[in-house]
Amino acid sequence: MLTLMRVKMEATLLFVLINLRLSTAGDAFHWGYHGANGPTIWPDHVPTCGGRSQSPVDMHDVRYNSSLGDINFSGYNATGTNMYQVKNNGHTIQVDITKNNITISGGGLVSLYTAAQLHFHWGGNSSRGSEHTLNGKQYPLELHIVHYKTSLGTIATAAASGQVDALAVLGFFFEVTPSDNEDLSPILSQLGYIRYANSSNLVSLSSDFSLKSILPDFHGHQTYHRYSGSLTTPNCLEVVVWTVFENTIGISERQLAMLRGVFETERGEMPEKLLYDNYRPVQALGSRKIITNTFHWSYEEELNTGPSHWLHHYESCGGNRQSPIDIPNEEKVQYAKDLGFINFLGYEEMRVHKLKNNGHSLQVDISENFYISGGGLGARYQAAQLHFHWAKTSNRGSEHTIDGTAFPMELHIVHFKEEYGSIIKALNHPDGLAVLGFMFKVSSADSDSYGKLLEKSSDVSYYGESTNTSLMQLMQLLPIKQDNLTFFRYNGSLTTPPCTEAVIWTVFTEPISISEKQLQEFRKLHHIEKPSIPVTYGTIYNNYRPVQRLNERRVLKNFPFSIKNFQFSTASRTISAGSMLSVAISICLLIARNYH
Ligand SMILES: *[C@@H]1O[C@H](CO)[C@@H](O)[C@H](O)[C@H]1NC(C)=O
Ligand SMILES: *[C@@H]1O[C@H](CO)[C@@H](O)[C@H](O)[C@H]1NC(C)=O
Ligand SMILES: *[C@@H]1O[C@H](CO)[C@@H](O)[C@H](O)[C@H]1NC(C)=O
Ligand SMILES: *[C@@H]1O[C@H](CO)[C@@H](O)[C@H](O)[C@H]1NC(C)=O
Ligand SMILES: *[C@@H]1O[C@H](CO)[C@@H](O)[C@H](O)[C@H]1NC(C)=O
Ligand SMILES: *[C@@H]1O[C@H](CO)[C@@H](O)[C@H](O)[C@H]1NC(C)=O
Ligand SMILES: *[C@@H]1O[C@H](CO)[C@@H](O)[C@H](O)[C@H]1NC(C)=O
Ligand SMILES: *[C@@H]1O[C@H](CO)[C@@H](O)[C@H](O)[C@H]1NC(C)=O
Ligand SMILES: *[C@@H]1O[C@H](CO)[C@@H](O)[C@H](O)[C@H]1NC(C)=O
Ligand SMILES: [Zn+2]
Ligand SMILES: [Zn+2]
Repeated sequence: MLTLMRVKMEATLLFVLINLRLSTAGDAFHWGYHGANGPTIWPDHVPTCGGRSQSPVDMHDVRYNSSLGDINFSGYNATGTNMYQVKNNGHTIQVDITKNNITISGGGLVSLYTAAQLHFHWGGNSSRGSEHTLNGKQYPLELHIVHYKTSLGTIATAAASGQVDALAVLGFFFEVTPSDNEDLSPILSQLGYIRYANSSNLVSLSSDFSLKSILPDFHGHQTYHRYSGSLTTPNCLEVVVWTVFENTIGISERQLAMLRGVFETERGEMPEKLLYDNYRPVQALGSRKIITNTFHWSYEEELNTGPSHWLHHYESCGGNRQSPIDIPNEEKVQYAKDLGFINFLGYEEMRVHKLKNNGHSLQVDISENFYISGGGLGARYQAAQLHFHWAKTSNRGSEHTIDGTAFPMELHIVHFKEEYGSIIKALNHPDGLAVLGFMFKVSSADSDSYGKLLEKSSDVSYYGESTNTSLMQLMQLLPIKQDNLTFFRYNGSLTTPPCTEAVIWTVFTEPISISEKQLQEFRKLHHIEKPSIPVTYGTIYNNYRPVQRLNERRVLKNFPFSIKNFQFSTASRTISAGSMLSVAISICLLIARNYH
C-alpha cells in the first residue's frame, strides 16, 4: 500500500513539489479525475487549487493584441535515440524530453523557455476531452508541451520559484480525422508497453520522432490565445503562461481508442480502471484577460477588433467612399429623373435557397436566375445573397441612417454585375456590385414571409450551420409594392471587411414590416460555433457598422417629391449618427463592466 501510494505520488507532474507540500501535511492526497478524489475536492486538500488564476479556462471574447508575434520554436526538429521517453504515470501519457536544448521564445514570452515534457488530456468519447474550451467548444484531446524558464534551471526549481511566468505551456487541440495521423505513431505505438500506470517504466520513442512532427500545420499563420494560469493538476501552482492554439492537430477515432485503452491503475491493481476523461473542468476566469495574436474582425470595439480597428488590417476600410452613410435630409438630395425604377427579374419564382449563419449575420444564398435591372444601374446585376444587420434593441440596428434616423434592421440584397461573372471578380470594379438596402419598421403583427424564413433560423443558430429555406418567393421579403419603389442612390463599399469600394448602393425609402418578436429571433443567432455545453455569450447583435463620412460623394434620389411621412414610426429620430456611436460605446462599457 505504501509503495502504491508512492508510485501514485511520483506520477504527478511535479512530484518533488507535492512531496514537499504534503509531507508536512502528513497524509498524501491521492488525487484523480473522478468521484471522491476528483477536481471539485482538490482545493480541500491542496489550497492552491482554489486560487484565483486557475487553469484551464473557457476562451471567449478574446482581445486582439497586435504586439504578439509568432512563437519561435527552436530545436523542435531535434531527433535522437533515447531523447524522448514515454510513460504512463496514472494520470496521463507523458513524454519526457531528456535533452535541454529545445526551446521556445517570442510570441510575447518575456524570455527563453526550455521544453521539459509533453502529455495529453482526453475524453471517454470524442464529445469531450480537452481541458481548455474555445467558445464553449471542447475538443476530444489536448496536448500540453510544458516548458520552464531557462534561466530558472529545471522544471522543478522553476515551479518552486513561484514566478507567475515560470512555466510556459503550449496547448494544442485535436480534431477527429477519418484517417490516422502517422506523426503520432511513434508515441501511440508504444502504448502497448505502458498500458498500466508506472512512472518508472520509461519507453524510448523511435529515433525519428521530433516535437516538430506532431505540431499542427500552421498554414503559415499561428493563431493562439494567451493568459496567465496554473498547472491543471495538483498542486495547481499559478506559475504558467498559457498559449493555447486554434490551429488543430488531426487524430483518428482508431488512434483515440488507443489512448482510451491504457489504464490509470497499476499492473495487478484491482479493479482495473481505464484512463480517460483525465481533464480538469474549466475554472473561473475572474478578472483575467485572454489575449489573442490574430485579428478576427468583429463589431466589438472592446476586443480591439471592432469597426474602428478594421482599417488597420483592411486598407479599404479607411477609404473615402465607404458605407454605410447617413443619407442626408431628402430636401438636400438631388432628384435624378433618369434613374427610374428597379426591375426585379425572377424574384416572384418559388424556389428553395440555402440559409446559413455566416458568423456575422443570417444569410440566404440566392439560387441562380434572380436579377435586377433599370434604376440607373446601366446593366443587369445577378442576385447572389441577402443578409441582415440588426441591434440588440429596436431603436437602432440599420447600417444606413436617413437624416439621422436609424431603423431596427436593414436587409441587404447583394448582386454582382452579370458580365463580371461572380462576386469575387466583381469586387475588382467600382460598379461591380449593386446592393439593395431595405429598412425595417416594427409592426404589431408578425410578417408571414419573415415568419417562414425564421422557421428555419433555429437550425442555423450557430456559426457555420446551414439548411434549406422552405419553398419561397424572394419577392415576399421585399416591401409590399415593388414596381415603383422610391430610393436613394450613392457609390459606396462593402460594409464589412475588406470594405471593397465596389458597390452601387440603392437604399429604399419603403420599409418592411416585422414584429418585435420576429426581430428577437435574429438576436438569438450566435457568432460562435455550436458549443459543447450551452453558453451565455456569443449572440450576434449590433452587427452594423457605424455611418462613414460622405466626403465628396453625391446622393441622388429617384423621386421628385418629398416623402414627408416616412412611416418609420418606431424608429427613434432622436438618435443621430453621432450619438448612436456614443450610445454604442457606452453600451460596450456597460458590458465590459459586467465582465469585471
Ligand atoms: C499586448 O501584449 C503585450 C505583451 O503581453 C503587453 O505588454 C501589452 O500591454 C498588450 N497591449 C494591449 C493593448 O493589451
Ligand atoms: C529563435 O530562437 C533561436 C534560439 O533561441 C534564436 O537563435 C533565433 O534567433 C530565434 N529566431 C527568431 C526569428 O527570433
Ligand atoms: C540538441 O542536442 C542534441 C544532442 O545533444 C543535438 O543532436 C541537437 O542538434 C541539439 N539541438 C540544438 C537545437 O541545438
Ligand atoms: C533543425 O532546423 C534547424 C533550423 O532550421 C536546422 O539548422 C537543423 O539542421 C535542423 N535539424 C534537424 C535534425 O533537422
Ligand atoms: C459521449 O458520452 C456522453 C456521456 O457519456 C453521451 O451523452 C454522448 O452521447 C457520447 N457522444 C458520442 C459522440 O458518443
Ligand atoms: C514499474 O516499472 C519498473 C521499470 O520497468 C519495473 O521494474 C516495476 O516492476 C514496475 N512496477 C509495476 C508495479 O509494474
Ligand atoms: C437543399 O436543396 C438542394 C437543392 O436546392 C438539395 O440538393 C439539397 O439536398 C437540400 N439539402 C437539404 C439538407 O435538404
Ligand atoms: C407607384 O404606383 C402607384 C400605383 O400604381 C401610384 O399610386 C404611385 O403614385 C406610384 N409612385 C411613384 C413614385 O411613381
Ligand atoms: C458613381 O460613380 C460613377 C463612376 O465614377 C459615376 O458615373 C456615377 O455618377 C456615380 N454615382 C453617383 C450617384 O454619384
Ligand atoms: Zn496538462
Ligand atoms: Zn450588409
